[in-house]
Amino acid sequence: MRVLIVGGGGREHAIAMCVAKSSKVSKLYCAPGNAGIAALAECVDIGVMEFDKLVAFAQKEQIDFTIVGPDDPLVAGAVDAFEAAGLRVFGPRKNAAILEGSKAFSKDLMKKYGIPTAGYENFDTPEAALAYLETAAMPIVLKADGLALGKGVLICHTREEARAGVKTIMLDKQFGSAGNRIVIEEFMTGREVSVLSYVDGKTIQIMTSAQDHKRAKDGDQGLNTGGMGTFSPSPFYTEEVDRFCREHIYQKTVDAMAAEGREFKGIIFFGLMLTKDGPKVLEYNARFGDPEAQVVLPRMKNDIIEVMEACIDGHLDQIDLQFEDNAAVCVVLASDGYPEHYEKGLPIHGLESFENKDDYYVFHAGTKFRDGEIVTNGGRVLGVTAKGADLKTARKNAYEATGWITYDNKYCRGDIGKAIDEV
Ligand code: AMP
Ligand code: GLY
Repeated sequence: MRVLIVGGGGREHAIAMCVAKSSKVSKLYCAPGNAGIAALAECVDIGVMEFDKLVAFAQKEQIDFTIVGPDDPLVAGAVDAFEAAGLRVFGPRKNAAILEGSKAFSKDLMKKYGIPTAGYENFDTPEAALAYLETAAMPIVLKADGLALGKGVLICHTREEARAGVKTIMLDKQFGSAGNRIVIEEFMTGREVSVLSYVDGKTIQIMTSAQDHKRAKDGDQGLNTGGMGTFSPSPFYTEEVDRFCREHIYQKTVDAMAAEGREFKGIIFFGLMLTKDGPKVLEYNARFGDPEAQVVLPRMKNDIIEVMEACIDGHLDQIDLQFEDNAAVCVVLASDGYPEHYEKGLPIHGLESFENKDDYYVFHAGTKFRDGEIVTNGGRVLGVTAKGADLKTARKNAYEATGWITYDNKYCRGDIGKAIDEV
């Protein structure tokens, strides 16, 4: 089978690692890929939003199976473009990817089908949003409706901050057209858990749980980022939590999408908050998490192509999804200054230390080749993942492995997985 992966981050590197292991795969391409993915796949210089070029490439190279990694192309209809050309492709269609693409849509869906989530209101005009804020309880959460690189969420502690937030999102358009609508939501507290799942339109199979660390600095200080590190499984995702979510959240979401005529095939990522009133959905994503994929996929025992084909063909119920009975931790190596200003183009050393080491992985996020060497090319540069028999061992291994890599403005959090110590 000839396979194409669309994307070029750490998540796609983790997907590529699984695809490359599949006995069904004879040739792997990645568009655009990156310097790490290039060791597993032939990278093609086509951007993730260039649907015409991607489809033309897939036709010319007789690609049998395409996997779309990132949210932007999914929400914009990449899967529909491949299907229209008669090509086999994994991921939700545009009418289903709206589950991630519009927070107002996903909130209305949860309300209509009784799926637990924070109380909220949607607003199309800043005047209406501001009027609502006058009597709302603080703190409060403002969310730009559309995609905003995970940054369109503002937690406001005072009315003044909230008013300024409405201005930032709806008038200054800091997140572009994503801010044409706004969701104003009740503030919740509790631990966060990421749960990824495979979905075939009817059946949902849950993967092992994970936890991300979204803030840039230790102790969850600093700005929100795409994710600074993950661990899997989450010790807070207990059997009781799992039972509740299976009854009230997972299947209900899949059925709700089907009932709305928006059959979902692909990955649903449930961002959950474990509140004192039980688990609630913070957000849905329509794809693997990044860097959740970097701790979940190395622990998956199945052939990923088999599972993805079952999603497309509607027989996921026949798959016995299995994960290793161990743990994994991923520490993101970033460029100092991320997510604001940082330098790129710095040579990276030590990548060869990961060769032929079972249970250690270096997933490339922002890297590229320059004159035969690999240099930094983004805010998040690498994801260093290690497995271990338990979370503490995996964390120790992952931090040890971060020391094998050097580049000039290397930065990572020192407390990824610290929550484990509270268990
Ligand atoms: P989201 O993109 O919707 O997952 O939001 C990003 C982050 O904002 C989440 O991971 C939470 O840390 C935080 N957040 C979102 N919604 C709420 C809420 N209703 N209450 C408290 N924190 C929230
Ligand atoms: N790690 C969070 C996300 O992928 O959205």
